[in-house]
Amino acid sequence: MAETDKIPVINAVGLSKVFRDFWNRSKARAVNDIDFQVFPGEVVGLLGPNGSGKSTTVKMLLGLLYPTAGNLTIFGQSPRDVRTKDRIGYLPEESYLYKYLTAEETLDFFAALFDLPAAERRRRIEQLLEMVGLAHARRRTVGEFSKGMQRRIGLAQAMVNDPSLLILDEPTSGLDPLGCREVKDLILLLKKRGKTVLVTSHLLSDVEDICDRVIILYGGKIRATGTLDKLLTLPETSRISMPMLKGEELNRVLGVLRKELKNESFTVDHPRMSLEDFFLQVINRARAESVETAGVVSGGHVAEYLTEGVVETDPKQVLNALLKEEKEPEPPPATAAVEEEKPEVKAEVLEGLTEEEQEEEVRPAVPEPKEDLSEVNQKLKDLL
Ligand SMILES: Nc1ncnc2c1ncn2[C@@H]1O[C@H](COP(=O)(O)OP(=O)(O)OP(=O)(O)O)[C@@H](O)[C@H]1O
Ligand SMILES: [Mg+2]
Repeated sequence: MAETDKIPVINAVGLSKVFRDFWNRSKARAVNDIDFQVFPGEVVGLLGPNGSGKSTTVKMLLGLLYPTAGNLTIFGQSPRDVRTKDRIGYLPEESYLYKYLTAEETLDFFAALFDLPAAERRRRIEQLLEMVGLAHARRRTVGEFSKGMQRRIGLAQAMVNDPSLLILDEPTSGLDPLGCREVKDLILLLKKRGKTVLVTSHLLSDVEDICDRVIILYGGKIRATGTLDKLLTLPETSRISMPMLKGEELNRVLGVLRKELKNESFTVDHPRMSLEDFFLQVINRARAESVETAGVVSGGHVAEYLTEGVVETDPKQVLNALLKEEKEPEPPPATAAVEEEKPEVKAEVLEGLTEEEQEEEVRPAVPEPKEDLSEVNQKLKDLL
């Protein structure tokens, strides 16, 4: 089926967001009249330098900010529709985790927001912890986690409701090269299972590895968009890779090339593997030699439930739980075109709120003795 025949998962037309100051004067035109679509099963990268409007776009997709102008639908509905939120998994750029909850409790907290039955919650949590390589750290509080471990538990959280659309803000930031590779493989596997993924990242090589298409923003405008093949292929140049030729054979081939290309210059070189591939080779060799590590263990297989049919859930504003402090208040109907940002609520306040809502779930500040993470960190350093 041609792309244009498919119904887009995300459809943005003339999307704009202007932030205004107290006196309603235009402060920043963060997103400026952009049109884009994301189709089912695509992995799309939203790229751009700092301040180019990526996060503002993502927040509008999540219904956390109101567009100043334009039209935005997700699965054909408004981003604020609860049915839409039920089908989205979101990994925010900033850590939002409640630091006294263990990894297990963190996932249970988010699973409970989707009203999943206890047995189903346990099953998913088990599979997710295994998938992101944190099964051994399930009883550690996430406040003790390294940045990479927090990213992994955040990813698991984003998948707890088996979403059709994943919005991942910098999913590989803070991960070691093994973790990056695993996250990228995971995204590709999810794509194979029909999930749609929108990912923002500053790591262009990561984007290149996983995205079918990219959208490059600058100053709130789309400056380039298209498939990586279309954008990056150099149509004027051919490259032939073959087993290494020696002596006479090489001279014969060069002779043919000189004759065919007349006076045009050409180069013959040895292709290089990427540093990432080399690094992974070194580590895999060490693994094969059974060098022990107490760090993050390699992630397991994709959680089984992610490959099954969608379980009906009653959405309960998981996005709100993730980003309560960022949510914009409903604008009054008469002035819907001009909104103000709610002042940022401090992280402590958010934690306080979470605690109040989840009193029974939260463990006291003096929990059971914990394992020493310094050993894990040392082993990871050794590995790198
Ligand atoms: N709440 C806000 N109030 C006022 N201006 C804002 C607000 N949020 C974002 N902006 C402005 O909107 C523009 C786009 O910001 P945005 O956070 O979307 O950029 P970004 O592409 O995500 O950048 P980064 O790569 O640094 O995360 C910037 O000029 C920023 O200062
Ligand atoms: Mg941002």
